[in-house]
Amino acid sequence: MEQRVLIIGACGQIGTELTLKLRDKYGTSNVVASDLKEGTPQLMTSGLFIKIDATDKEQIRNILVEFNITQVYMMAAMLSATAEKMPLRAWDLNMTALLTILELGKEGLYKQLFWPSSIGAFGPNSPHTNTPQDTIMAPTTVYGISKYSGEMWCQYYATQYGLDVRTVRYPGIVSYKTKPGGGTTDYAVEIYFEALKSRNYTCFLSEETTLPMMYMDDAIEATLSLMAHPKLQAYKAYNISGINFNPKEIADAIKKQIPEFKIEYQPDFRQAIADSWPQSIDDSQAKADWDWQPQFDLEKMTSVMLANCKPDM
Ligand code: SER
Repeated sequence: MEQRVLIIGACGQIGTELTLKLRDKYGTSNVVASDLKEGTPQLMTSGLFIKIDATDKEQIRNILVEFNITQVYMMAAMLSATAEKMPLRAWDLNMTALLTILELGKEGLYKQLFWPSSIGAFGPNSPHTNTPQDTIMAPTTVYGISKYSGEMWCQYYATQYGLDVRTVRYPGIVSYKTKPGGGTTDYAVEIYFEALKSRNYTCFLSEETTLPMMYMDDAIEATLSLMAHPKLQAYKAYNISGINFNPKEIADAIKKQIPEFKIEYQPDFRQAIADSWPQSIDDSQAKADWDWQPQFDLEKMTSVMLANCKPDM
């Protein structure tokens, strides 16, 4: 089937690379990128861009109709650390953006929706290692509450209205084209930029804080292969797992290539957020239901990051 795609939140860390990949896959004229703010020069010059507010239902409705959109990626959200500073604004943005697009899906204005959940949907009572697909959730961050609630809403629209909505629980994503903003896993991107720029990094998490992470290419591949899968049994917010590491391990991987690199640790409020999340998650259900395997380990990711990060970005 020919797809005509709308990405909402196209200028964020994941949205940027997803948009570029979708333009390759479906052709520039079939992909509409949208965001409240402008993105990187590559994103802005490689295809159509429309400025929109992810919570403006009428504006989004008009775009869905005008471009005869079949597939939507709702990537607009406030991440975990920023959300703790402005809980009600985060809740409002994250939930209104999702419910707006779900309602438009219920009206039949597109065929398929991708909405990302996160490891943040788990909480301190979830098993911390190899966290199962189905387990106690009970998140304690605003971001996590919005992600877990979002999963429930997606399930509701899928079962009540037959909407084809698909979800993965992303780990922290590492990439060099666009920096993340306001997340707890951001350190794993900042560390590479700082290693190249100043040979020094002060980490806001403690050295033994292991979190599930993933290199961007694997995250995009997981997303697109899930969306392309012909038929899933039922809605599920799939655990997907890439590389589990802590700040010390990523620093050691960097030191192998930049021996003079130094790291210090000054944990701040983000430590408590990280401590409430899993250290590793079990994605056997995702691997069983659709054909997906991550390709990047810590060493390979480190080589790509150090070769491509632009230190002055
Ligand atoms: N990367 C996100 C964050 O740190 C987690 O999904 O907020």
